[in-house]
Amino acid sequence: MRPHEARRDLYRRMAHAQGYRSRAAYKLKELNTAYRVIGAGFDVLDVGCAPGGWTQVAVQNAGNQGRVMGIDTAYTEEVPGAHIIRADITDESVLDRILEYFGKKINTVVCDLSPRVTGNWSVDHATQISLNYGVVKILPQILARKGHAVFKVFDGEYSAEFYTFMRKKFVKVKTTKPMASRKTSSEMYMVCMGYTESG
Ligand SMILES: C[S@@+](CC[C@H](N)C(=O)[O-])C[C@H]1O[C@@H](n2cnc3c(N)ncnc32)[C@H](O)[C@@H]1O
Repeated sequence: MRPHEARRDLYRRMAHAQGYRSRAAYKLKELNTAYRVIGAGFDVLDVGCAPGGWTQVAVQNAGNQGRVMGIDTAYTEEVPGAHIIRADITDESVLDRILEYFGKKINTVVCDLSPRVTGNWSVDHATQISLNYGVVKILPQILARKGHAVFKVFDGEYSAEFYTFMRKKFVKVKTTKPMASRKTSSEMYMVCMGYTESG
């Protein structure tokens, strides 16, 4: 087994042993340890939540006083402590459902969206970035000033432009690749802290 395969296997076994739905859960755990984007009592939206690993981590960090809503086009089994809806984030009506659930602006949006991949990287990269822009578009209505956001980014020709765009909206943006993210994958994460805009 190659080292990266061994590591992937390790995270899979850890997820199984610790009751997480996905290996991906460890990415958010790691990001949150480093950047504290989800604290106790936070209201959190998890976009592209299936099968629910990040939602579980968000619930753990937000605690009893916080609220977590997960959205995915795919079916997500219920996550105790979270409100899950099956919807497309690019669908206009989804905004009302988010606003209805929280009733006020929220602290953090975490976004691990992946389109159905075609195998053509430039196409997949462009589609993934455009999904992220779909989320950025609704931030003014849902994210409180000083709030945080995490975006998965399929790295490619539009990544720098996305970074610059986010940098205008947040005080600080960190680009990082968690240990739990496969070395061979070209995904990375942008951790955006201190939202400066609000609708
Ligand atoms: C890598 S998975 C997320 C894994 C999740 N963070 C976890 O820890 O279990 C990416 C998800 O994005 C979802 N997705 C893709 N396009 C979407 C869209 N337009 N609206 C909502 N979800 C979408 C996919 O269905 C998929 O479940």
